[in-house]
Amino acid sequence: MRAVDIIMKKRDGYPLSEEEINFLIEGYTNGEIPDYQMSAFTMAVYFQGMNEEETTLLTKAMLNSGDILDLSKINGIKVDKHSTGGVGDKTTLVVAPIVASLGIKFAKMSGRGLGHTGGTLDKLEAIPGYNNYLSDEEFINQVNKIGISVIGQTGVLAPADKKLYALRDVTATVESIPLIASSIMSKKLAAGSDAIVLDVKVGSGAFMKNVEDATKLAELMVKIGKNCNKKMTAVLTNMDEPLGYAVGNSLEVIEAINTLNGNGPKDFKELCFEIAAQLILHADKAKTLEEAYSLCERQIENKEALNTLAKLVEAQGGDKNYILEPSLFPKAKYTYEVCINNEGYVNHINALQIGNAAMILGAGRKKITDIIDHSVGVVLHKKVGDKVDINDSIATIYSNYSNVDEVKKLILDAFSYSNEPITPQIILKVIK
Ligand code: URA
Repeated sequence: MRAVDIIMKKRDGYPLSEEEINFLIEGYTNGEIPDYQMSAFTMAVYFQGMNEEETTLLTKAMLNSGDILDLSKINGIKVDKHSTGGVGDKTTLVVAPIVASLGIKFAKMSGRGLGHTGGTLDKLEAIPGYNNYLSDEEFINQVNKIGISVIGQTGVLAPADKKLYALRDVTATVESIPLIASSIMSKKLAAGSDAIVLDVKVGSGAFMKNVEDATKLAELMVKIGKNCNKKMTAVLTNMDEPLGYAVGNSLEVIEAINTLNGNGPKDFKELCFEIAAQLILHADKAKTLEEAYSLCERQIENKEALNTLAKLVEAQGGDKNYILEPSLFPKAKYTYEVCINNEGYVNHINALQIGNAAMILGAGRKKITDIIDHSVGVVLHKKVGDKVDINDSIATIYSNYSNVDEVKKLILDAFSYSNEPITPQIILKVIK
């Protein structure tokens, strides 16, 4: 078999066989197939696409390129969630404790943030002492003992995807639905859970800019998961404004804690409940979505979910007092209000720009080696649909620097206004 013949076949629009896909992925992972041939291949896929069977085969080939976590020593159904990446997305910090407090095993490997999107690991590290790095054995033991663990990746999961994603990033081939689907699903499947809920973001702050493309991606990922015997749901959610009000690590942890105390932002609470409810249905803890939603509400009211977050933090070396008393989180040195000259109704908040503003303050990384400042970020005061008047503050900046002119401008420019109010919708579609 020769790589050039496989590239030519895809270039001319023919579907590839299992042997051909395995040949390419194995050869690329072990260095026998060079970057220039793989670049040509990914560009051919970008233009010609791949059918569902090919995409499943590509996912399996990347999944089999590394370690696959064996969670069989954890009793009962294991659930996981994945977000395609947004701004202000602290969903795991609320969904995980809700479902775990109902006795559903939540075993999750999370990632770090890069660019305008934040990562759960960085948010958890805003809690003093929290250890993201457990061995596989410690991870499994903790989930068996307290029903929940959230850690950074152990072992080498889907190394073929790591190499291929870096190549796609510099060859303009990221935005291909089969390549995104196989990339995400190879890593999710390697993490070993039985049921997965995917949160596919749509809008200015997301990879998928419209519902049509997001639907195609979500349907494909759900099919791939089902083809691999997983219970799957995808939820399409709005990223035409940041999720909740807070963007920045400890600010987001505080917002998650407020939500677990029953005081969460409307959009954020609704999204967390939808994802948690879908996981509850997969674990057969409720018969209907309404029943699953009531369970979420109950676990907030009786503080079981909050106490489960405190248990998770304590088990992983963190100080649980921060969860029970969030005013303990260190504050940034300066705060600045962002006031406007407009009046009307907010009709859009460019999430990418707010994410970039937080990144410039030090809440995110421009490059993977940058060190994060957990205390800084942006807290919005207005969301889409809200009325604004001249001189209203639309956001507070939390900074350890005194010059925030660039950040202020980014925030001001991120907001647009209309004369009539619009009603935003967070859940756009559910795909099973
Ligand atoms: N996230 C991934 O992990 N892979 C992609 O291709 C795109 C987003």
